[in-house]
Amino acid sequence: MAPAPNPASAKAPRHVAIIMDGNGRWAKQRGRPRTFGHAEGVEALRRTVEAAGELGVQYLTVFGFSTENWRRPAEEVSALFDLLRLYVARDLDKLVKEGVRVRVIGEREGLQADIGQIIENAEAKTRFNDKLNLIIAFNYGGQDEIARATRRVVADVAAGKIKADDINPDTFGAYLDTAEWPAPDLLIRTSCEYRLSNFMLWQAAYTELVFTDTLWPDFDKRALENAIAEYNKRERRFGGTEAVAT
Ligand code: FPP
Repeated sequence: MAPAPNPASAKAPRHVAIIMDGNGRWAKQRGRPRTFGHAEGVEALRRTVEAAGELGVQYLTVFGFSTENWRRPAEEVSALFDLLRLYVARDLDKLVKEGVRVRVIGEREGLQADIGQIIENAEAKTRFNDKLNLIIAFNYGGQDEIARATRRVVADVAAGKIKADDINPDTFGAYLDTAEWPAPDLLIRTSCEYRLSNFMLWQAAYTELVFTDTLWPDFDKRALENAIAEYNKRERRFGGTEAVAT
């Protein structure tokens, strides 16, 4: 007998964004250091990238390191950078083969030189892929992104490339790190925390938010399907009165 159609995969949102929260608590519950939770978080990320591709998601944006995460102990910051190195070293060939295009958003200036090279190499090697776009927000903050975009707008106004009167949400959006992609349809935050924490502030204007009590290291395909099923119950009106099909 054919398996029953999966209601979640029937209508996967085009763009899913995830705040991967709860690594520290997951580790604490096991009497382990926070960095152990982050390492398990990478396994959850690997599962989620695979699941997103299988479910037909086109864009998956994940919050890997925020501009505010520098406030954490140096050892934890260093571990998070090492995990980015490890993830790319271990998975890049697989991502290339599986049609995943990797992009990284956030402030690149001030990052260690090898991290910049790792990012550029991953972006270059996957640039012809188009099955799933994996967008890693790393050293990313929504306010920082808007400030950086504003500096570029001001420079273009000064150079006469754009008129101040022509600045509107569409033209401004083209200066953001995410200029090439549609806004997230669904934003998931794990671990029972109910805030955006400076993630996708501009882009999330009409994003559907789903909060789950799953701690990020426990996140898997089923958890993603559940969030998508919840998304599929929502009616999106974008400020109007009629449902808009997305
Ligand atoms: C939040 O959990 C998680 C982070 C700040 C980092 C997320 C990183 C990963 C999932 C692994 C690394 C992935 C890449 C691509 C570098 P938390 O530490 O705030 O958890 P807590 O709220 O329980 O303390």
